[in-house]
Amino acid sequence: MPQHPVATPAAGGRRALRAPRAPRTVDVDVVVVGAGQAGLSTAYHLARTGLVAVGSRGWERARGTFVVLDANHRAGGAWQHRWRSLTMADAHHVHDLPGMPLAVADPAEPAADAVPYYFAQYEEAFGLNVQRPVRVERVDRAPDGDEPRFLVTTRHVDHPDAVVVWSARGIVNASGTWGKPFWPAYPGRGAFRGRQLHARDFRSAADLADGHVVVVGGGTSAVQLLLQVADVTTTTWVTRRPPAWVDEEFTPELGRDAVARVDDRVRAGLVPESVVSVTGLPLTPAYRAGIEAGVLRARPMFSRLVDDGVVWDPATTPGPTAAGPTTPGPTAAADARSGTAPGGWVPGPPFVEARTILWATGFRASLDHLAPLGLRSPGGGIVMDGTQVVAEPRLQLVGYGPSASTVGANRAGREAVRRLRRELRW
Ligand SMILES: Cc1cc2nc3c(=O)[nH]c(=O)nc-3n(C[C@H](O)[C@H](O)[C@H](O)COP(=O)(O)OP(=O)(O)OC[C@H]3O[C@@H](n4cnc5c(N)ncnc54)[C@H](O)[C@@H]3O)c2cc1C
Ligand SMILES: NC(=O)c1ccc[n+]([C@@H]2O[C@H](COP(=O)([O-])OP(=O)(O)OC[C@H]3O[C@@H](n4cnc5c(N)ncnc54)[C@H](OP(=O)(O)O)[C@@H]3O)[C@@H](O)[C@H]2O)c1
Repeated sequence: MPQHPVATPAAGGRRALRAPRAPRTVDVDVVVVGAGQAGLSTAYHLARTGLVAVGSRGWERARGTFVVLDANHRAGGAWQHRWRSLTMADAHHVHDLPGMPLAVADPAEPAADAVPYYFAQYEEAFGLNVQRPVRVERVDRAPDGDEPRFLVTTRHVDHPDAVVVWSARGIVNASGTWGKPFWPAYPGRGAFRGRQLHARDFRSAADLADGHVVVVGGGTSAVQLLLQVADVTTTTWVTRRPPAWVDEEFTPELGRDAVARVDDRVRAGLVPESVVSVTGLPLTPAYRAGIEAGVLRARPMFSRLVDDGVVWDPATTPGPTAAGPTTPGPTAAADARSGTAPGGWVPGPPFVEARTILWATGFRASLDHLAPLGLRSPGGGIVMDGTQVVAEPRLQLVGYGPSASTVGANRAGREAVRRLRRELRW
């Protein structure tokens, strides 16, 4: 398999003095950015249409080619970086990739081990020849030629001199969200002298056992991490909307409804909102126990941080609302998903001393490399039609907005290839 070319040091270990070379340009039909669930599903469907992965035997002579570029050092997409206490039993079902089921996994195995193992087997089985660790730095439109092309500039993660430009007819972007943790701005964030970390960088509750922990955010990351941290120290939970408990099974119909609402947003060029705002928080036995123990009782957002804790200013803080989980009922789930659920906020003192602020405040799509294409709409998002970027039909986004789940990413890979094939006529 051809490796990303690496600049070699001159004899004696010193780099030869020479003018920088123009980066090598390689023609390819389709570039796939990212090898998580979305990128691998896309690669599978590209191969099924007859395109040949760069690096396969005889690829240079193939009539149509694709390349998958991934910034990680090994297979597994974002899964390899998940906190190790997230086991296969805790995961919200990892959907099989197309064409090869995930072999029976030990429910106690960390998803950070089991899923990368599966992805590695998958890449091998279908000869996908993922090029890694290679980061896509930018995507530009090629100067006018016979047909429109993109120039995808990449750099080897370990060898910054190794730059390759892929000239592609089409792109499927599958770069996920893990690279873009969202840190909201609150007054005093820089003044706080304790520890601040995002859920993305959480490793173990034991690391936070040295004092009180304030957890910010109302999504699954917040509640799962709260339950773990509460085993080793005291906690305060703060959310900007009352917790969206849903005392109802998350049925396929509810799933479709949630996907449709995110789809409406991205079609209108708006940024996808938090995941929990469309899914709600299912009241599992563990969460019920957490509510009863007082751990999963939220307070409204604090107004500001100070050097040793967080402060609620009465003038800007909403009062407590009815506390307790959503009561079952026909409108409870809809209320919960719209943020008006009777999950409620609980009262508390105006100041809480804290050693750690854990920002479980979600993620944004990792799309910085697409900035040169100028795709952002006035609404801040990218106007989409399914997986297709309306302003640039040869660019597909998978794992974005409504397809940001393992099942959604699978379907989006198939749709993106179908649409691209129609655009590029192969
Ligand atoms: C903590 C957590 C738990 C989750 N659990 C579940 C679950 O149980 N079930 C479920 O369905 N969903 C879950 N999700 C949602 C999950 O993120 C998606 O389902 C899915 O794994 C995302 O796949 P992806 O391929 O879109 O992204 P990723 O898995 O993030 O893959 C993106 C890949 O693109 C690469 N990349 C990014 N930028 C570049 C670049 N510029 N150049 C080259 N490569 C790049 C990255 O290195 C990465 O390998 C969870 C999310 C989080 C945050
Ligand atoms: N498999 C698992 O076990 C597991 C574990 C963890 C996460 N996940 C998945 O990972 C994905 C991300 O989950 P997540 O919980 O990290 O993110 P999320 O669901 O997007 O939730 C982000 C939370 O941060 C809040 N927030 C955003 N901006 C804020 C601000 N300025 N101030 C205060 N709060 C703010 C949001 O509030 P608003 O709603 O008001 O915007 C929301 O409550 C989801 O798909 C989830 O299912 C899965």
